[in-house]
Amino acid sequence: MQDRPETELIRLEIDGPCCEIILNRADKYNALNVQMINELIAVFEWTANNSVAVKGSLAENGAENLRILILKGDGKHFCAGADINMMRDAGAQSAEENRADSKRLDRLFNSLWSHPCFTIGLIQGVALGGGAGLIACLDHVICNPHAKIALSEGKLGILPAVIGPYVYRRIGSANFRRHAMLAGRMDAAEALRIGMIDAVSESEQSDSVAIISEVLSTGPSAVAAAKELTLGFDRWSGSDEEFREWTLDFTSRMRSSVEGQEGLSSFLEKRPADWKPQE
Ligand code: COA
Repeated sequence: MQDRPETELIRLEIDGPCCEIILNRADKYNALNVQMINELIAVFEWTANNSVAVKGSLAENGAENLRILILKGDGKHFCAGADINMMRDAGAQSAEENRADSKRLDRLFNSLWSHPCFTIGLIQGVALGGGAGLIACLDHVICNPHAKIALSEGKLGILPAVIGPYVYRRIGSANFRRHAMLAGRMDAAEALRIGMIDAVSESEQSDSVAIISEVLSTGPSAVAAAKELTLGFDRWSGSDEEFREWTLDFTSRMRSSVEGQEGLSSFLEKRPADWKPQE
């Protein structure tokens, strides 16, 4: 894969169709400063551009295109949120500069949330503020039982607005409102109960293996299109009739796609679909 972004505060490890992104600012508990945010945005865009869903092929020049992102943090904590120095400095600048800083954060969360790959998070220690925002943008989150998550912004006199849409979609209105006001830490059990995370495990990394193998047996374009389908449901503002028409169009599009034809034919021909890893 070409033009891989240069990074200092995050590490990338690519293994076939999986790319691990490791937050690498352990001395500041992986707080998201401007450099780290810019590096993450560049890496999310680069991995999206090199995904099977965007490239339209499983491999190119002998290298597999990407289907899975795994996000994790080095050290004691997954992520202590947005860098507090950065936010204080931005807030003290002009309205335009302050807004540009928030816009960078918005781009970070949106590029993770809308990423065409299946995204997995492995969480240890704390995930506060923007760290909780990253969790909310991921598709499958496995959390250590001792981890703690908080929408902690309220303790700093600010609010989880930029991350809000993603957290709100994950945990719903009442839980979002309660946690934005309390700004206190939820343990892994509560996070699981309200849907902030998907699994609790002492061995997050090894438990991700089963999820990875499940995703690799699903059509890679179907994975990306599932996000588009869900967004259509989330945002639907037309009539019920139009809504049903839209789902018919979507179904027809998937059936007639190259991947849909391959998946349906492979089942009938009793052979693995071409995207399934060889056993
Ligand atoms: N932004 C910038 N620096 C941060 C940070 C953040 N979000 N979180 C931690 N750090 C820095 C600390 O300032 C400290 O730096 P120093 O070594 O130069 O003094 C270093 O990371 C270690 O943090 P410290 O507070 O000394 O460690 P701790 O073990 O007592 O507590 C945390 C760890 C993460 C619980 C605590 O630092 C914390 O609550 N951070 C704020 C998190 C937050 O509110 N984030 C939401 C932002 S919207």
